[in-house]
Amino acid sequence: MKDFSGKIAFITGGASGAGLGQAKLFGGLGAKVTIVDIRQDALDKAVAELKSLGIDALGIQMDLTNREQYIAAADKAEAHWGGPPQLLFLTAGVNTFGPAEASTFEDFDWVLGVNLFGVINGLVIFVPRMIKAYNKINGELSREGAHISIVSSLGAFSGFATDAPYSCSKAAVNNLAYSYYEALKPYGIGVTVQCPANIRSNIGEAVRTRPAHLANTGYHVSEGTINMLKSIHATGMDPVDLAKNLKQAIENELPLAIPYDNAEEILQREFKKVIQYLTVEGLRELEEEQRRLAEIQKDFLKTDTSGINGPIEPFGRARSDLNWVLPEKRK
Ligand code: NAI
Repeated sequence: MKDFSGKIAFITGGASGAGLGQAKLFGGLGAKVTIVDIRQDALDKAVAELKSLGIDALGIQMDLTNREQYIAAADKAEAHWGGPPQLLFLTAGVNTFGPAEASTFEDFDWVLGVNLFGVINGLVIFVPRMIKAYNKINGELSREGAHISIVSSLGAFSGFATDAPYSCSKAAVNNLAYSYYEALKPYGIGVTVQCPANIRSNIGEAVRTRPAHLANTGYHVSEGTINMLKSIHATGMDPVDLAKNLKQAIENELPLAIPYDNAEEILQREFKKVIQYLTVEGLRELEEEQRRLAEIQKDFLKTDTSGINGPIEPFGRARSDLNWVLPEKRK
């Protein structure tokens, strides 16, 4: 798809960060945009901002882990615009950090519920509607096909000691995207999964949207850890620039988008690591590389927290009462 004007778009997590960047870019190119989000206040602000930019926008509050709410939102958007989305952006996501060995069921249920099942819900709800409305059966392109974009993460390619639920959710999402890319080709519906590293967004505060019934966490989370994450994401990629990278991938019908010039080198490093896991020699080499990288990152990871009002604490630690976790990994 190359012409976005007049296209119907549906964006999850559209009230903030990457999703709002997509709404601004594609809305600015003439798409009619529905943004859905769990936070009503953020939605109201985002819709007002989009409208002030001259973008035709509709906001719907919903929790994408709730299938009834999701179907109701899809119905409402379809009734409003007169059809299902031609541009579907499954962008919403959450994160929380702590040692894998401290993780609770609820840590997994929350992060996988939003990041993986939120995407699965979107695919199951929208794919049949999109095929019916925009398929290319018999070579007839109906209204120029359609495209599904999913925001994953560079974390999809690795395991992380302090980010297990998140990175496994993103690995699964990448795999899911490749499956749908292959499956939807004959219908003329494209699929792209985009894998960024750091985005200027509000994901550092994601724990504020964690539902009460999944509140039990094994991780140490505080205003200080949230502030630390906020200072890191303040230096991330501009969400509209990120959306521009996605636009290129949609235009070229590419299944994978990595918004950096050295994308191939990044992937080679990640895949080499998996190959190194196979042998004793590989593991030795990997450990040496990791030691060198840790030295380099010591300085690189120092963030400027001067703009933050309030406490600052390192994130990625376990709750202090989890006595099976090494003391240095606990609060
Ligand atoms: P963000 O927090 O600014 O935006 C995510 C939006 O999703 C928020 O407005 C939030 O309210 C909404 N949301 C959360 N749970 C929801 C639910 N259950 N139902 C409906 N909406 C919900 O964060 P950001 O960074 O823009 O995140 C977008 C995507 O980018 C996520 O999938 C994230 O994993 C991914 N990503 C983010 C990176 C970063 O550094 N911020 C890096 C790599 C990937």
